[in-house]
Amino acid sequence: MAVEWRRTHRCGELREEHVGQTVTLNGWVAKRRNLGGIYFVDVRDIKGLSQVILDGSESWEGAESAEHLSPEDVISVTGEVVLREKPNPDMPTGLIEIQVKRIQKLASAELPPFEIVRDLDTKIDLRLRYRFLDLRRPDMQEKLMHRSRFIAAMRNAFLKREFLDIETPILTKATPEGARDYLVPSRIHAGKFYALPQSPQIFKQILMVAGFDRYFQVARCFRDEDLRADRQPEFTQLDMEMSFVEEEDVFNVWEAILGDTFREAMTVDLPAEFPRMTWAEAMERFGIDKPDTRFACELHCLGDWVPQSGFGVFAKVLEEGGRVMAIAIPGGGSSISRGALKKYEKFAKELGAGGLAWWKPAESGGAAGPMAKFCADESGASLLKTLGAGEEDLILFSGGDQALVWRVLGELRLRFAKDLGLIPEGLWNFLWVTEFPLFEWNAEQERWFSAHHPFTAPNDWEMAGDPGKLLSRAYDLVLNGWELGSGSIRIHRQDTQKKIFELLGIGPEEQRAKFGFLLDALSYGAPPHAGLGLGLDRLVALTLGMDSIRDVVAFPKTTTAADAMCDAPSTVEDELLKEVHVRCELPEPVPEPDAKPAS
Ligand code: AMO
Repeated sequence: MAVEWRRTHRCGELREEHVGQTVTLNGWVAKRRNLGGIYFVDVRDIKGLSQVILDGSESWEGAESAEHLSPEDVISVTGEVVLREKPNPDMPTGLIEIQVKRIQKLASAELPPFEIVRDLDTKIDLRLRYRFLDLRRPDMQEKLMHRSRFIAAMRNAFLKREFLDIETPILTKATPEGARDYLVPSRIHAGKFYALPQSPQIFKQILMVAGFDRYFQVARCFRDEDLRADRQPEFTQLDMEMSFVEEEDVFNVWEAILGDTFREAMTVDLPAEFPRMTWAEAMERFGIDKPDTRFACELHCLGDWVPQSGFGVFAKVLEEGGRVMAIAIPGGGSSISRGALKKYEKFAKELGAGGLAWWKPAESGGAAGPMAKFCADESGASLLKTLGAGEEDLILFSGGDQALVWRVLGELRLRFAKDLGLIPEGLWNFLWVTEFPLFEWNAEQERWFSAHHPFTAPNDWEMAGDPGKLLSRAYDLVLNGWELGSGSIRIHRQDTQKKIFELLGIGPEEQRAKFGFLLDALSYGAPPHAGLGLGLDRLVALTLGMDSIRDVVAFPKTTTAADAMCDAPSTVEDELLKEVHVRCELPEPVPEPDAKPAS
């Protein structure tokens, strides 16, 4: 008969108060040391480690002796908790150890391809291939525990405010969120396909039409788009929608929910209200629509200064309707060498700039930079005043069309701040960015696209003659320079929705085929409604101080959207393809995507 193996405690739980008790622990062999025939074994589970002692007097099942134990074997040990002769202050269980009476090996382990330790330094593709071992490491387990705690706290915060948790379909029709859809062929409807949802957008609006006036969902979303550190093809949104509300109502609910969540999951107090900033102000001050407001170093317009400087190139830019702006990098005059500036110039060129004009006010001659001669005497003094800068700073200029100047200085601002350590730690700078443009012009396709999605309400119609100038009632929630969530006041009138579709070049037939059900719903009494989708993976990563969402997703994809562990996507048998009426026509030769892991 097998020895009873079920645990009485978790490995990280035992303390001095348990001394004298007989306990059973289940876990993995983390470390094994042999000191003159006495084995000291660390047993690990998700709660931590305990040291157990095997001195040869214990009874065995599943193996003969401690010599046959290997790292990562699964064991059950029963014994008495005793005080350690030499306590280990670095271990929460370091005051005690277990004198084992009975041990059972429950499973043997092969030698793992990497050590199961915190702060592992090994290639990410190996970690993803053996994700079951990677996820056994304490830091990965802590990340996923944090994620679970965070989502639970957020769910509670929504439920407390009478939001209903409602699931929406995964097999559905395309929702336009700007990426390609993942398609699923139908067996029953030959030649037809479902699309996996890019977000529950249309369904949540329809729930509002149905009268569920407060909805939320921890929703899986699928987007076939190029991957980056903050993107996965399959990710999770905390999606919500409310009826009979305006922007401030949505903002207030989220401020309260995030306040509750941060307090409960992290014991952090957030301000009761987050600052608001229009998109136009964000671009003008920070050059980007998701400003990191933890540090200043803002953009300044040099329209008044350019004539005084006598710099013809910039004067011409202004004449041609462009912009000239600058930023001052605090202390950059001495901390950034000429050589380093070359690197930043290359970066600026990659962003589309012709070069990088700079000035170091404290230097003289060539060391002061290419703009020095236009910054002499009064011109320099007035420039420093405009920028609120000091002699020790580095001044960077950009001239050209508005979008380029914003992009170049906005990105340089972030890059310098990171490189020079200008970003203070421990701040949670939430920000609402409002009044985004409604449309963006796509020069390649020569048509307008929705900047957010086509269900976003326009701010007003006065500019309807020039769609490029129309503003929307879209808003983003930004945290420390990351776009955390997006939402908007929705169009709740059928005529307005049709007009927006028309401006987007979607004619009546296409409207009916793609969005007929939404247009129908809007014609049966749709309440004014609004909502927001928040990227949960991003929020969890940010709250753990991580740059990539990969390690807060249990089974992430690589940059080529592959699952390295189970080898998905994979080919399927012809029989299965036939069943779903699909035939593959592959390009010759089949291109092998670069199997780079997601950074
Ligand atoms: P949007 O497309 O802006 O809006 O997405 C909302 C939030 O989801 C997160 N996100 C992602 N996270 C990880 N990987 C991705 N590939 C990815 N794409 C987006 C971001 C983003 O801010 N239906 C609207 C929301 C609404 O209007 O209510 C929507 O999906 O954090």
